[in-house]
Amino acid sequence: MADELARAARLLREGRLVAFPTETVYGLGADASSAAAVARLYAAKRRPLDHPVIVHFAAAEDAFAWAREVPQAARKLATTFWPGPLTLILKRSPKAGDFVTGGQDTVGLRVPSHPVAQALLREFRGPIAAPSANRFGEVSATTAAHVREDLAAEADLVLEGGQSDIGIESTIVELSGGKAVLLRPGHIGASELEAALGEKLAERPAGAPRHSGGLERHYAPRTRAQLVAPHELDAQISKWLAQGSEVAVLAFSRPDQRVDFWLRMPQDPVAYAQKLYAALRELDGAGCARILIETPPQDERWAAVGDRLRRAAA
Ligand code: TXA
Ligand code: MG
Repeated sequence: MADELARAARLLREGRLVAFPTETVYGLGADASSAAAVARLYAAKRRPLDHPVIVHFAAAEDAFAWAREVPQAARKLATTFWPGPLTLILKRSPKAGDFVTGGQDTVGLRVPSHPVAQALLREFRGPIAAPSANRFGEVSATTAAHVREDLAAEADLVLEGGQSDIGIESTIVELSGGKAVLLRPGHIGASELEAALGEKLAERPAGAPRHSGGLERHYAPRTRAQLVAPHELDAQISKWLAQGSEVAVLAFSRPDQRVDFWLRMPQDPVAYAQKLYAALRELDGAGCARILIETPPQDERWAAVGDRLRRAAA
């Protein structure tokens, strides 16, 4: 591993791309201070140039050097959740170039906890810009094998780090406007954020900054997917089967009818999130005409999973 890390850091210094594990999903990393390296990253992901990327740091004090204002609320969240699955959006300092912010006046900062991510950041001794290591708009990668399926030609190196613990992308909180706004739900939920802040999150203002996870369709398998309420699942399966379409089903229990392919998902939102992207990849691989996904419960604990499923099925 020490050799691999030294090689990874050398590649990053040369402006090349290194995929690495984090506790949320795998990232495709580039030197965050190099316009050329980040340009290569956008090209590899086929990502529109105005979509900002998250910049990863080894420690909070390194991250805050990329912000020109660090509100007290940001310090509270960092103290409570970093290193960990949280991204903070703050007003950028001159260190954060237009090429990482998509031309916006803010920058996304994250301090991951995965030991391989931490070791890479320390070995490289600089920040790493990294979007999720998948093709833009498609299903994220939670194993090194998934990264290779999507980006074998684009990543100069893929670091192995096992299966991502959390399985869905970091919670994103925007703090550039004085108030804390939840932009992307994740493993860290709204009430945990509010407990750490000591106050309520603010509503998302109209015209809030762009973020690609905020696109209506995202995290999407290639097969058309649709969400179905639990009590309608069997009727929907019958409908598609009657049309001669093969269906793949993601559900909490075995469907009454024989379907071409199905996967059972856990009743617990944390366990569900961990399996989600691997499951979507498997359903896609079944080669059916349609994916039917049983809608999860509506409560706050399911907010992040519900968000990903809605966009995957949009
Ligand atoms: O867990 C994660 O956050 C993973 C791992 C690799 O760290 N990364 C990730 O990156 O999910 P990506 O690029 O797939 O999603 C980053 C999201 C995008 O929706 C992007 O638009 C938003 O963060 N974002 C980044 N900087 C932003 C900014 N300055 N303002 C608003 N949104 C921002
Ligand atoms: Mg992504």
